[in-house]
Amino acid sequence: MNRYMLNVREDFPVLKRIINGRPLVYLDSACMSLKPKQVVEAMNEYYEVFPACGGRSIHRLGDEASNAYAKARRRFSSFINAAEPEECIWTRNATESMNMVAACVGIPKDSKIVTTSLEHHSGSLPFIERAKADGLEIKIVEAQSDGTFDIEQWKNAIDKKTSIVAVVHSSNVTGTVAPLKEIVEIAHDNGALVMSDDAQYAPHHPLDVQKYDVDFSAISVHKMCGPSGMGVLYGKMEHLNAMGMFLVGGDTVADVRYENGRIIPEYLPPPEKFEAGLQNYAGAIGAGAAAEYLQKIGMKHIEAHERSLLEVAMKGLQELEHIRILGTDDISIKTGLVTFSVDTIDVAHDVAAFLSDEYGVMIRSGAHCAHPYHYQMGIPPSKGTNRASIYLYNNRQDVHAFLEGMDALIDATS
Ligand SMILES: Cc1ncc(COP(=O)(O)O)c(C=O)c1O
Repeated sequence: MNRYMLNVREDFPVLKRIINGRPLVYLDSACMSLKPKQVVEAMNEYYEVFPACGGRSIHRLGDEASNAYAKARRRFSSFINAAEPEECIWTRNATESMNMVAACVGIPKDSKIVTTSLEHHSGSLPFIERAKADGLEIKIVEAQSDGTFDIEQWKNAIDKKTSIVAVVHSSNVTGTVAPLKEIVEIAHDNGALVMSDDAQYAPHHPLDVQKYDVDFSAISVHKMCGPSGMGVLYGKMEHLNAMGMFLVGGDTVADVRYENGRIIPEYLPPPEKFEAGLQNYAGAIGAGAAAEYLQKIGMKHIEAHERSLLEVAMKGLQELEHIRILGTDDISIKTGLVTFSVDTIDVAHDVAAFLSDEYGVMIRSGAHCAHPYHYQMGIPPSKGTNRASIYLYNNRQDVHAFLEGMDALIDATS
């Protein structure tokens, strides 16, 4: 056991649950991570001690809520090393973050958007729709069959006509990590912006948005030990300033004048510009607590821990018959997840149901909101695939329970 993870399981009381006589094994963190006590306590403190409007009310409780909300933004900003906290916008999820960019960023009429066949639907569809609405060209970079990209593919796809590149940093299907730094360099050399989908990358690897030099990054807080219904949009301040409005209304304005029968809004700068209406204060405070929790353990240690367990899971699966693993087996360019299909089973949901019912092991089944890549791999989304995903609280026993269940399933069905 990685010494940095020694006491981590104590922070997640749900891991004490017994399911059908077996200890709970949670291998579905790529969908939704578990939440440590520290995050739940930070959110409870908001509800129990200062459950007021942050930013609106100037009384004592309002003040405390505002301070906690601002502190959470600073913590999150430090987690991704943004140049300033105001570059982090609270959203409902990574999907909303990417929709905001696709809807509000300035894109020249005759330009081209570049994206990939490996994207989560939340990464591609907002840009597909923007392209449809504005009559823009869309270029799809096709992932190779092992889920990786050759850098030449990017050089060929991105040119001076390209306005924005939307790329998944780490795939929720193959777990493969894209060569983001090189992609950003190619994009910037051609004057294009980069929207990085970090929903799967940020929870599992050290993410330094300044080092990667991305223009935008979308983060899913509920996958990184934080509350559900929370996400972050990171954007370089110059782009956030230049973007059009997304939702407008209360809290987005410095003033709304009334002159000669006309209503004239004067909007606030980011982040308020993009945070319309009463905010999810407890959610933001939970996001800050999650960022602090992960940072204390250290993202490098979490990454190393996951990779060591992934190696055991991949080796174990490779030894079983009737299993087809999607994506490369080069663990050094993978996030801690493995997606596979089982020849002897018609529908992936049956695998997940069997492991849950018989072994207390929770894994994901379906097409993971990534139908294009499933079609590309010749797997109908209706059959789908299974995904076991690892996080900081998993241990070797978890992986062994999963492999034991898979072995029994193959035995029973072949
Ligand atoms: C790669 C990737 N992008 C985007 C999303 C969407 O994230 P959210 O649920 O926060 O909207 C997910 C969620 O599974 C994902 O895995």
